[in-house]
Amino acid sequence: MVSRLVEIYSNLEEPEFRILRNIEKNMKKYEYVPIELIEKESKLPPSKLSNCLRKLSTFKLVKRVFGNIIGFTLTYLGLDILALRGLMVRGVIKELGDKIGAGKEGDVYIGITPGYEKITIKFHREGSAPFRKIKRTRSFVINMNWRSMIELAKALSEREFEILTKLYNKDARVPIPIARNRHAIVMKYIEDSIELYKRPELNKKEAIDILTQVLKTLRVAYIDVGIIHGDLSEYNVLVRIPISVNDTAEAYVIDWSQYIYKDEPHAEELLKRDIQYITRFFRKIYRIEVDGNEALKYVKGNMNELSIE
Ligand SMILES: Nc1ncnc2c1ncn2[C@@H]1O[C@H](COP(=O)(O)OP(=O)(O)O)[C@@H](O)[C@H]1O
Ligand SMILES: [Mg+2]
Repeated sequence: MVSRLVEIYSNLEEPEFRILRNIEKNMKKYEYVPIELIEKESKLPPSKLSNCLRKLSTFKLVKRVFGNIIGFTLTYLGLDILALRGLMVRGVIKELGDKIGAGKEGDVYIGITPGYEKITIKFHREGSAPFRKIKRTRSFVINMNWRSMIELAKALSEREFEILTKLYNKDARVPIPIARNRHAIVMKYIEDSIELYKRPELNKKEAIDILTQVLKTLRVAYIDVGIIHGDLSEYNVLVRIPISVNDTAEAYVIDWSQYIYKDEPHAEELLKRDIQYITRFFRKIYRIEVDGNEALKYVKGNMNELSIE
């Protein structure tokens, strides 16, 4: 089934993209961008402009306000379309496919590059749960109107893309970041993987392998990049189960946009919680024992080997 986003995208033409971009630009100054301004800057005849705006409203890419002025603002869907357009024009994405995953705060799609590489596109939303956590980090000034929600979604994607790049460069087990546009990030699709919360069937050795790789990634993040994931659980770990005898189980830690630096307030507390959640899951589901304090020491680099059994 073609997703709604793709369906809408394929129905749009350049003048409509141009109007969306114009509204986006002017949203820096206006909550609702006056129609006169759009008319002046888009250089479209009034009848053509109103047709385009009607189409954009029907598709719910813009929202209209009537009052002393007629004005327009972008919706999330409108922003998704602009990000998708940017990535298509840059040749990052060739085709967008189905929505995937159990993303609670964003929409995640599968896609392909012009070179037929499978990719994942994640459109950030400002989100409620992550948002609460982000409020704790000082680097964000929060003033929740619609425009700042969009800015926050963009900031989240920037955060996630930058940190994925740093983590990947240090050989952490994370998806390979490819590109970013507005609130969207593109990364390599982890094929044949299953979310850990779905409890993939793993024998004891495989389960130990997976937990070791996750803790090692937390260690690289802490020691080499100086950060803590901050939202680690079985929902943010992807597992590739071995498909042949020579194959090994592989883990990937995803969803890094809520990281915090290790010297920020609450860092220690969050790191302990990350470790506690993941070790508890392995204990409960796979009967793997690892001492929480030792795991913490290992991740912080105060111990070089970790015994897991
Ligand atoms: N690189 C990827 N490869 C394959 N699937 C992915 C990838 N990134 C995300 N997903 C899927 O999308 C879901 C949501 O992604 P995530 O980054 O955790 O976003 P959210 O903030 O919505 O939780 C994941 O649970 C997973 O199923
Ligand atoms: Mg997630």
